Amino acid sequence: MLKIVNIVGARPNFMKIAPLMSEYKKYDEIEPILVHTGQHYDKKMSELFFDQLGIPKPDVNLGVGSGSHAVQTADIMKAVEPVLLEYKPDAMLVVGDVNSTIACGLVAVKLGIKLIHVEAGLRSFDTAMPEEINRRLTDSISDLLFCTEKSGVENLKKEGIPEDRIHLVGHVMIDTLLSNIAKARSSSILPDLQRQKVINGESYAVLTLHRPSNVDDPEVFSKILDGLEVIQKDMPILFPIHPRTRKNLSLSNLGSRVQSMKRLHLMEPVGYLDFLQLLSNAKLVLTDSGGIQEETTVLKVPCLTLRENTERPVTVEIGSNLLVGKDPQKIIGGYFKIKNGARRECQIPPLWDGKASERIVKVILTTFCALQKVYV
Ligand code: UD1
Ligand code: UDP
Repeated sequence: MLKIVNIVGARPNFMKIAPLMSEYKKYDEIEPILVHTGQHYDKKMSELFFDQLGIPKPDVNLGVGSGSHAVQTADIMKAVEPVLLEYKPDAMLVVGDVNSTIACGLVAVKLGIKLIHVEAGLRSFDTAMPEEINRRLTDSISDLLFCTEKSGVENLKKEGIPEDRIHLVGHVMIDTLLSNIAKARSSSILPDLQRQKVINGESYAVLTLHRPSNVDDPEVFSKILDGLEVIQKDMPILFPIHPRTRKNLSLSNLGSRVQSMKRLHLMEPVGYLDFLQLLSNAKLVLTDSGGIQEETTVLKVPCLTLRENTERPVTVEIGSNLLVGKDPQKIIGGYFKIKNGARRECQIPPLWDGKASERIVKVILTTFCALQKVYV
């Protein structure tokens, strides 16, 4: 039996773990254990996704919650260690680049537990971004590294990671998208917004913002709002707001400014199926999210990324994603370029075909079944 502890903590982790939890069921040799760190805890940032994506209830919830980077990371480490000592897994699987990823990974390797990183090798080369630190550190201690795109493989090789640990497998988040898109079509969110006259049958944009570099400094956030103010006069913008961003609006005087923008429609964070429906019918998406740059690529909806860089360069190379940073003029320019330009037919990156989790579990089995004897 190969016992694998799987870690989730924050919203994007749930879409990534869902297809793996379901793939494990095909193999009697695997005993999966699911641990939720509790990094995200609001119903709309966590529980909702378990229900919608059919993720089993976590075996353990560490209930760690929010805190500074040091406090959150340390609390997760302290809470996960006794769980690992109790379950004695052969391997731990972590996804993405959040604090839960590195915190749990670090504890695992120090206990001699093999570490598997899904979504390895992505690099923004911007060390001011907390996720970039988490990515580099997690990759440097992982035994098996699964990449979503070619750039990930190249980055890892350059960093000296042995090639036999690296596997290009596609994207588990896209597995989830492809298996839920049909269900998302029957969400009632768009008809509801039409009925409420938030949108009137016209084109609309979707906006998400939560990067500290965009929303933690009111001066920067205010510049982004300068751009959005112009855009919302031309097209309604649906804005499911992240709790970090809502908190920052309420702590600054920007909240009233946002309220005054009649066609910038603030909403609570929405469930995955509702969000997919909003994304797939949007004229364009404005975002600083990592995952949404990739989802829009597959949905063939143009994406304006409000960042200076991206760790997902394939989306830019393919042409579905345009980096516009936080300069209002560039944001507005990008918007009109998309609105008035001809829609481009962009390709979908190799292996983003809904089968990443299948590939990953096969590699895990072939890699660890021989090693496993050492652990029993
Ligand atoms: C985290 C990840 C980020 C990821 C994002 C996905 C890190 C360093 N950052 O950022 O990479 O893109 O999740 O959404 O791990 N809060 C709530 N309710 C919740 C969760 C958070 O109110 O359920 C509020 C709290 O005020 C908290 C703040 O949001 O302090 C930030 O939460 P945190 O998990 O620290 O970082 P995120 O910005 O969510
Ligand atoms: N998402 C969602 N509801 C929302 C906003 C986003 O279901 O209101 C989904 C989105 O489709 C994607 C994931 O959340 O699957 C992205 O998470 P987020 O932007 O929080 O994190 P990041 O990808 O930037 O780490």
